[in-house]
Amino acid sequence: MAWYYAVAERDHDIQNPTNAEKIRLMGEWLRLGPESRVLDIASGKGGPALVLASSYGCRITGVERYPGFVAAARERVAEAGLGELIEVVESDGREFPLEPEAWDVALCLGATFVWDDLAGTMSALVPAVRPGGHVVVGEPFWRRSPPVGTDDTGYVSLAETAARIERHGVTLIGLISSSTEDWDCYESLHWRAVEDWLAENDDDEIRRAHEEHKRQYLARRDAFGWAIFLARKAG
Ligand SMILES: C[S@@+](CC[C@H](N)C(=O)[O-])C[C@H]1O[C@@H](n2cnc3c(N)ncnc32)[C@H](O)[C@@H]1O
Repeated sequence: MAWYYAVAERDHDIQNPTNAEKIRLMGEWLRLGPESRVLDIASGKGGPALVLASSYGCRITGVERYPGFVAAARERVAEAGLGELIEVVESDGREFPLEPEAWDVALCLGATFVWDDLAGTMSALVPAVRPGGHVVVGEPFWRRSPPVGTDDTGYVSLAETAARIERHGVTLIGLISSSTEDWDCYESLHWRAVEDWLAENDDDEIRRAHEEHKRQYLARRDAFGWAIFLARKAG
């Protein structure tokens, strides 16, 4: 049976409502360089890793659970000639061994559900970065109250999201927000990919998932935000 995201994210270079320029900015703010070691949990098809390694020459280990995305990431890394810098490990992020203070930066962009939620993710990743290192999460937040008819996602306001992060012995040093255009682009690529796929495949489950995702997005578009939060561990 097809998995919705495997179908819907076929055409995405970066599987989040952001873009390469913002990922590059994130790397600049982290002062990444050839000496930096970066862990990217739930690395998808390797979009952020490709941008960071090609821009800053840093070493990145991506950890991704879905074999189709692992294969796509490895192919893209090989095509870009970045095999010396990027390694892609097929694993549940939760099972990947996290040695204490082993990384300069730990990323989890759009996947705090790996450790259930933001608090679980911070608890897992903060010990894994060195003192003075960074934990970076990409996380949704509500710009205003959830509109009627949208799911109760458990997300909170921007200020409360920042507070939830800073409860883990880190200080927020940067915020890179998605624009409405970033969101529209991310969602539209889903719609087009699924419509193309449904034209060739009869699958009621994918159709229902697609229609529900689209309905939810349109209902909450102006109320829902997403940002990359850069947090520094005390040095
Ligand atoms: C929203 S995508 C983000 C991908 C990537 N971080 C990016 O920005 O392009 C979420 C990713 O998390 C992966 N994922 C979901 N659960 C996971 C888990 N338990 N361990 C590792 N990866 C997981 C999905 O397969 C998907 O590739």
